Amino acid sequence: MAEKQKIAILTSGGDAPGMNAAIRAVVRAALYFDMEVYGVQDGYLGLKENNIHQLTAGDVGDIIHRGGTMLGTARLPEFASDPEVRKQCYKSLQDLGIDGLVVCGGDGSYRGANLMYKESGIKVVGLPGTIDNDLAYTDYTIGFDTALNTACECINRIRETSDSHERASLITVMGRNCGDIALHTALSCGAELYMVPEIPWSIEEVAERVKWGVLRGKRSMILVFAEGAMSSLTTDLKELCAQHPQLGDIDVDEIDSHQIARIIQVLSGHETRSTVLGYLQRGGSPSAKDRILGTQLGAHAVELLHKDVSGVAVGVRGMNVMEVPFADVQKGPHAADSGIAELVDVMAVMTRA
Ligand code: F6P
Repeated sequence: MAEKQKIAILTSGGDAPGMNAAIRAVVRAALYFDMEVYGVQDGYLGLKENNIHQLTAGDVGDIIHRGGTMLGTARLPEFASDPEVRKQCYKSLQDLGIDGLVVCGGDGSYRGANLMYKESGIKVVGLPGTIDNDLAYTDYTIGFDTALNTACECINRIRETSDSHERASLITVMGRNCGDIALHTALSCGAELYMVPEIPWSIEEVAERVKWGVLRGKRSMILVFAEGAMSSLTTDLKELCAQHPQLGDIDVDEIDSHQIARIIQVLSGHETRSTVLGYLQRGGSPSAKDRILGTQLGAHAVELLHKDVSGVAVGVRGMNVMEVPFADVQKGPHAADSGIAELVDVMAVMTRA
């Protein structure tokens, strides 16, 4: 009797809601194709430490609606930097006769997956699991929709209290070097302004717009700040802080979004509070959209391994599930969705009163 094909799945990097749906889909699609399927605990670390276990259909029951990842996740920079660590990882899979691996994660996890594909002879397929939506080859990554909904829900609450107190609120959202969470959140919350790493911005302009908003009679203003937005700030902060005695204590080399809110308050004369949403955005039950995406992409990854396809990342364009070679995953820097950005501006009517 022919040996069954054996494949494994790992989740790596920052966790994302919908990863469990993807794990479930990989396991159940593998069983459908009569494969044996294994789960690697804690990403590449589990490969290094040989922490790999066979999974059954029942093992992935009751997880589709749960946030996080049942397999755990980790960041293992040595995988990229140390060839000996990689050899150890490949050996763990080869010793079990596993010749196919699904890697669910973001760009760092994909770099590891590409190395494994090139060096080991193990078939590797990538699944885009990250809240950041920073993988340009796919319209959406697993977890983005849920993070967006969570950020919106939080901002709705902040809007209410800001409105009661007639304040502006600067809200920092995640996304590392990608402004997608910020831009999409801004549009769906009716925010007045956004600051993202892909689009240059000046703090004087933001303060000016806050003043216009006050003149127009806005009781609350929502300013969405992407965690990486400092990189596209054009203002010379040293000079600015030197001009305003109230800002003399700000250490511009250690600047954070709370201090940006303070500077906006000083320049605009309007009370401005700051909230960092942080890890709230990574937890929680996945949205229906992320459950569907995780399931579609997970099943497609297994179908590809079943056909001996390797070295590709799966994704979605429009209504279609598709795949691209790892080499095409990161071509050039991530671009902001200018259509969404413009629409936020149009809807906010932040023009001089
Ligand atoms: O990549 C997902 C992400 O949540 C980013 O938005 C954020 O910058 C980063 O991970 C945080 O990473 P860590 O979990 O290591 O703090």
